[in-house]
Amino acid sequence: MCNHRGITLWFTGLSGAGKTTIAVSLAEKLRERGFKVERLDGDVVRKSLTRDLGFSKEDRDKNIERVTFVAKLLTRNDVIVPCAFISPYRAERARAREEIGEFIEVYVECPVEVCAERDAKGLYAKAFAGEIPHFTGVSDPYEPPENAEVVCHTAKETVEESVAKVLAYLEQNGYLCT
Ligand code: ADX
Repeated sequence: MCNHRGITLWFTGLSGAGKTTIAVSLAEKLRERGFKVERLDGDVVRKSLTRDLGFSKEDRDKNIERVTFVAKLLTRNDVIVPCAFISPYRAERARAREEIGEFIEVYVECPVEVCAERDAKGLYAKAFAGEIPHFTGVSDPYEPPENAEVVCHTAKETVEESVAKVLAYLEQNGYLCT
């Protein structure tokens, strides 16, 4: 069945789990195939649209609420929208799903120990030293998805394998026909 339309791919998981890496590679592959793609990413959005926000629960909820608004507009204009945000709260992700409608949740699962070992941005070392308060997975909660459409285990899979899982889901559900 072919039903090409816009879709939001919501990548959730700890900092350093691999959300951005998977989303970047996926976006590249989709663009090569001629799809319109607009990627939204926490580290980028927090320098512009949500630069006034911090990491309290209230601010994280506002961050996701604003991103949801943008993703919704893009999705309804037939764009594929990979969104990479920690988005630690189930309720806020459920709200995004409800608001956007065409929504696939991708849980980028990786044990906090592995994220801390990778520590690509040097933030875990600081968080463990108590220099960053409310750091997700260290001193702030993360509520894992219970019914994500796709789960990537980045401590066990290669980036290519994780990207392939998401692509397979899109193929199987008729999102990638032209
Ligand atoms: S979210 O919780 O509101 O969804 P978002 O994905 O936008 O977070 O931003 C997370 C990024 O902000 C992390 O990858 C990291 O680079 C940075 N960051 C800075 N402080 C924190 C913190 N206290 N907790 C988590 N991430 C933080």
